[in-house]
Amino acid sequence: MAALLEVEELNKHFGGLHAVKNLSLTVERGEVVGILGPNGAGKTTVYNLLTGFIAPDAGARIVFQGKSVVGLPPYRIAALGISRTFQLCRPFVGLSVLENVVVGALGSKAGEGADLEARARTLLAQVGLAGKEGVPVEVLSYGDQRRLEIARALAAKPALLLLDEPFAGLGSAEIADLSALIRKVHADEGLTVVLIEHKLREFMRLVDRVVALDFGEIIAEGLPEDIVRHPAVIEAYIGRDGDDATAGATSHAA
Ligand SMILES: Nc1ncnc2c1ncn2[C@@H]1O[C@H](COP(=O)(O)OP(=O)(O)OP(=O)(O)O)[C@@H](O)[C@H]1O
Ligand SMILES: [Mg+2]
Repeated sequence: MAALLEVEELNKHFGGLHAVKNLSLTVERGEVVGILGPNGAGKTTVYNLLTGFIAPDAGARIVFQGKSVVGLPPYRIAALGISRTFQLCRPFVGLSVLENVVVGALGSKAGEGADLEARARTLLAQVGLAGKEGVPVEVLSYGDQRRLEIARALAAKPALLLLDEPFAGLGSAEIADLSALIRKVHADEGLTVVLIEHKLREFMRLVDRVVALDFGEIIAEGLPEDIVRHPAVIEAYIGRDGDDATAGATSHAA
């Protein structure tokens, strides 16, 4: 069977900046793939390209479940089964926690009406937000917003979940909880997951395989234990600006 996602010749220029360079990536069904790379390496841009938030340069091939998604708008790509979370949470302000999750699934294969609401409640319980269904989303703590972001992305019953630094800003207990949740949905729903993360300890435990990016290019690919020892990866993190990813201390504004 063909891979779940096949990407070839993915390029993106922002003016003179070549942010994603000739990227090729294949994700098989059921895999958990990690994307590693220093700040500005192009990781989020890859997600933006895969989900239709920005258009790739001409010549890109992005095939999801046998169908080209190049040129489709985000809502169509989401309806085909790719869900994402954002590095910065983007809840729908003015809606309740439950409504935020239900809205996340509208237009998807997850059903509608009562079914959708029941699924949303189950997901909220799974992510640890039971009892907060009716709360306005803007009063949630930062950690709860990150949990909501995952419930919202899962509500659509995606085949592929793209997580953009889900552990950012969380304490170690919260990271362990979220990590267990990601493992559970991966196991229970056969969900394929791509994970961008700088917190390497949990990342290493979660992923089957790592793709390391620097300056928009793949600099190394392989098993997590090999990638963290890879000279090009060490150079990208430590050699350039002393930013040690293995300390897991990187935090981001973007
Ligand atoms: N919409 C945009 N317009 C112009 N430049 C952009 C845009 N989006 C990203 N960039 C630039 O492209 C490069 C890659 O950015 P990107 O956000 O993909 O990096 P990243 O690997 O996700 O970094 P971080 O770890 O800090 O989140 C950066 O130099 C960034 O400034
Ligand atoms: Mg990013």
